[in-house]
Amino acid sequence: MDRNFALEFVRVTEAAAIASSKWVGKGDSKAADQAAVTAMRERLGAVDVDGSIVIGEGERDEAPMLYIGEKVGSGQGVKVDIAVDPLEGTGVTARGGENALCVLAAAPSGSLLHAPDTYMEKIAVGPLVGSKVSLRNSVEKNLQIVAKALDKPLDELTVVILDRERHKKLIDEVRKCGSRIRLIGDGDVSGAIATALPNDEADVLLGSGGAPEGVLAAAAMKCLGGYIEGRLAFRNDGERRRAVEYGMADPDKILPLDDLAKGDDVMFVATGVTDGTFLKGVSFEPHGATRTHSVVMRAKTGTVRFVEAFHRHKHAKV
Ligand code: FBP
Repeated sequence: MDRNFALEFVRVTEAAAIASSKWVGKGDSKAADQAAVTAMRERLGAVDVDGSIVIGEGERDEAPMLYIGEKVGSGQGVKVDIAVDPLEGTGVTARGGENALCVLAAAPSGSLLHAPDTYMEKIAVGPLVGSKVSLRNSVEKNLQIVAKALDKPLDELTVVILDRERHKKLIDEVRKCGSRIRLIGDGDVSGAIATALPNDEADVLLGSGGAPEGVLAAAAMKCLGGYIEGRLAFRNDGERRRAVEYGMADPDKILPLDDLAKGDDVMFVATGVTDGTFLKGVSFEPHGATRTHSVVMRAKTGTVRFVEAFHRHKHAKV
């Protein structure tokens, strides 16, 4: 993939973030999501790729735009897999909370896991730990591995976990090991990325979240040199069947990073909707100007660029 696509794709997430940010705090998660989807879909049409949505808004019969299998882009140029979460944190946006993002990952056709809309058990860590951890291990063993790799005692590790009832046992296990916990209300893509950024906000992400978010986080971890492993966690037989239909021979398999996002020709872009751990949200400034904060990452070169954009004209196409 041409490196110039990275900047093309950031225009896509910027457009989605500006559109959905009008809905911050208005209590309407559907409208916020729809605004992001519409803007993302429209802007993607201007990118010269022959793109297929592999992670998107759902199946064709339930999502009119950005559905799995939808062709996007101008149709000219390289064949790419596109994974999107037009609004990662729909509830957060509706509540006016933190860490809502518009996210897109791209990789050559066949590189991104075609994951069904189910849950995924995840472990994510930064580059100093990498694939030393695994979902095969107990929580205690993984935390010991992280502690050793980071040369920190267990009681100085910070574990990020989605604040959900289903994580009660996991939280108890982490507490027994003496490690610190940061419970997040939503947004485990940000949570995974936080473990790979050079700060001490998070050392490991544990627990289950959306499978689509797992693939998006994997694309980011490829770019950041971090590691994420996943295992699909089905709620019913229908979801398991869907995984098989999507081509997974063993739907219960532990999926190492390369099964989630293959190779190193992977790009990840995100724009903040609301302020978060690593990106500020959209701000509307006097006289119709808008400011956005995005990150653009490429695995091939290991570059991570933070792009602050000032959109001077209210109706300008970003
Ligand atoms: P939405 O954008 O769909 O609201 O997802 C937010 C999120 O917190 C994800 O980051 C996470 O993977 C998933 O929801 C967890 O799902 P659930 O809220 O069902 O536990």
